[in-house]
Amino acid sequence: MTEKDKEMVVTPWEVSGDIDYDKLIEQFGVQPMTADLAERIAKHAGGMHLQLRRGVYLSHRDLDWWLGEYEKGRRVGLYTGRGPSGHVHLGHLLPWLFCKYLQDAFDADLYFQMTDDEKFLHNDELTLEQAVSYTYDNALDVIACGLDPEKTFIFSDTDHIGEIYRLGLKVAKRVTFSTVKAVFGFQDSTNIGMIWYPALQAMTCFLQSVREGENIPCLIPAAIDQDNYWRMTRDIAEKMGYYKPAQIHAKFLPGLAQGGKMSASQPDTAIFTTDPPRKAAQKVMRAFTGGRDTVEEQKRLGGKPEVCNVYAYYYFLFEEDDDELLERERLCRSGGIMCGECKRRLADRVKVFLTGFQEKRERARDVLCDYLMK
Ligand code: TRP
Repeated sequence: MTEKDKEMVVTPWEVSGDIDYDKLIEQFGVQPMTADLAERIAKHAGGMHLQLRRGVYLSHRDLDWWLGEYEKGRRVGLYTGRGPSGHVHLGHLLPWLFCKYLQDAFDADLYFQMTDDEKFLHNDELTLEQAVSYTYDNALDVIACGLDPEKTFIFSDTDHIGEIYRLGLKVAKRVTFSTVKAVFGFQDSTNIGMIWYPALQAMTCFLQSVREGENIPCLIPAAIDQDNYWRMTRDIAEKMGYYKPAQIHAKFLPGLAQGGKMSASQPDTAIFTTDPPRKAAQKVMRAFTGGRDTVEEQKRLGGKPEVCNVYAYYYFLFEEDDDELLERERLCRSGGIMCGECKRRLADRVKVFLTGFQEKRERARDVLCDYLMK
């Protein structure tokens, strides 16, 4: 069986196979993203983010409502998170960079949950101490995305449990074992920590409302694999006196190898923010492309950007300019550029990006405390 024929699996803990986004929209019962919604966001932001222009966000739930509340003059909030099980790679940065754009556009507080508990419970190899230390390591990446320290509240489930336990309990009391079995596929053999954990991921949707003593509409930018949590949360939100959280769902950034998303478990095919820029450039040079077997064939038939990971990186992250991107696609299809050259240019951009990002990441150490929830 080839990678392409593999059945699609999209859960909070596994993403594999050939991803069919239309099917996901149907299966998960979410709304497709529209040009009109993207325009509305862009209007408030004073510009359309690259990720919106390029269709990174495929679907949503209640985004129209969340925007409508803001348009009525109400305060709105944002929530996203990270399972700290290792170093951060470029795929993780996509929604965080987008959060920065939304934070600025909507003057919104962002609650950022570090689920060191979840990763410890789920991953047999990871010790709790490692997960907690990745919380603070990964927080540097979050900060390096340029978020506002006055409006960003990063917290660790384990270290901040005192502040979040009560709200977690109020969620937990309303969710039965049979619900989480159905939503997450938990089995009798699943450890009981995992069975409790969804209460904590859900409660963050209401955390700002509780802390501020007023109901604040919450929007969650995240990859679509987290959807199970929000289905569960949306069922209980109104019964608890809160709004249902709105979502905007991102596609996955492909890895450098053929097929599949960028994944930390395949380090050679993922670019980590902590990779020495030279090493990251070498990974790019080994990436899967949409090139032909020989130079002669490529000149004659042209490349296939639609299956090319190098093109995907320009598309999602490294080519801001829409005209330049089109020109690159045209050149590729017409056989006017070879993969080696295209990779070399991308490798240069990745090096420049990482060098700048790593400087910001180092500076983040001095201000980490300003970003932690108090
Ligand atoms: N469960 C997520 C992960 O493993 C972490 C997370 C917690 C999250 N809350 C979130 C991700 C909200 C997106 C949005 O990565």
